[in-house]
Amino acid sequence: MSLTSGKAVDVLRAAGEPSRLRILALLAHEELAVLELCRVLDQSQPRVSRHLKLLAEAGLVERFPDGAWVFYRLVATGDARRLTDEILRMVDPADDVLLRDIERLQAVRAERSAEADAYFARNAARWDEIRSLYVAEAAVEGAILKAAGPGPFKRLVDLGSGTGRMLTLLGPHAETAVGLDLSQQMLNIARAHVAEAGLERCELRHGDIFGTRLPGQSADLVVVHQVLHYLGDPGAAVREAGRLVAEGGRLIIVDFAPHHLEFLRELHQHRRLGFAEAEMERWVHEAGLAKIRATALPPARHDGLTVKIWTAERVRNPHRSAS
Ligand SMILES: C[S@@+](CC[C@H](N)C(=O)[O-])C[C@H]1O[C@@H](n2cnc3c(N)ncnc32)[C@H](O)[C@@H]1O
Repeated sequence: MSLTSGKAVDVLRAAGEPSRLRILALLAHEELAVLELCRVLDQSQPRVSRHLKLLAEAGLVERFPDGAWVFYRLVATGDARRLTDEILRMVDPADDVLLRDIERLQAVRAERSAEADAYFARNAARWDEIRSLYVAEAAVEGAILKAAGPGPFKRLVDLGSGTGRMLTLLGPHAETAVGLDLSQQMLNIARAHVAEAGLERCELRHGDIFGTRLPGQSADLVVVHQVLHYLGDPGAAVREAGRLVAEGGRLIIVDFAPHHLEFLRELHQHRRLGFAEAEMERWVHEAGLAKIRATALPPARHDGLTVKIWTAERVRNPHRSAS
């Protein structure tokens, strides 16, 4: 496939304006909400929205509403994406304007993660109670055990392990386990829970899901439970989780179906209000995993949330097992 000359001109016109080029360069880093782009570009919302509309019409970015917010990201594939990548590749990475934008993006990110860190530090002791507020927890945990399968697992990795609930649930079926979390307060509580559960070969590490420094394909069970909706770049977290899954191993992602409980952003630091089937499938697929399945668990009460459990596997390489 290639672009018609008319389409190529549309794409180049859309990209060929200073603010729009800056927007493309920013979205190449991560998906962003309109208000975040306004802050980085230091431009008004109507102005930024107009640029985004033109970029979307030319097929360079995609728009996805998330509750009352609207996020944008670069289209994942296709000729328009290739052309965008090519244009961005040719721009000097030391360009003053783009460097300043990246600095501002980093400041927006730092602010976002400081707020989330403070929230988790503040609420670590209450986390088990908060977790059960909007979901039918027993049903969810039963479904997670079922999705994981009977094991035994050689190595379980729990990313964003919080107070260690997934480790105590699945750890008894695993020879070794690692829980990774950014919050020291959460890790301290997890250490106590893991010790109470008698899980001796379970390690708790302080670390970031974006670059876990764990070896690739080293775990036959990787779990990301109720973490993605806090993150700036959930797709990158899914790719990192997928990277850890060994051949024949399984990834389990638990998060919310799309919802409209807007107050969760303010009150509980949620960034995304759930995830659509198609975007999760795309991320999992990009992570090199297959056999993707999704189960929906309805809320326990009328104002609760539907929990989704996505499972996927790294299919065994038949050539390797034959040799
Ligand atoms: C909502 S809690 C869920 C904890 C646990 N998985 C559970 O379900 O109880 C989200 C956890 O993700 C952690 N977290 C957030 N961003 C992270 C990151 N970038 N890397 C590692 N952990 C992160 C938080 O510190 C918090 O403990």
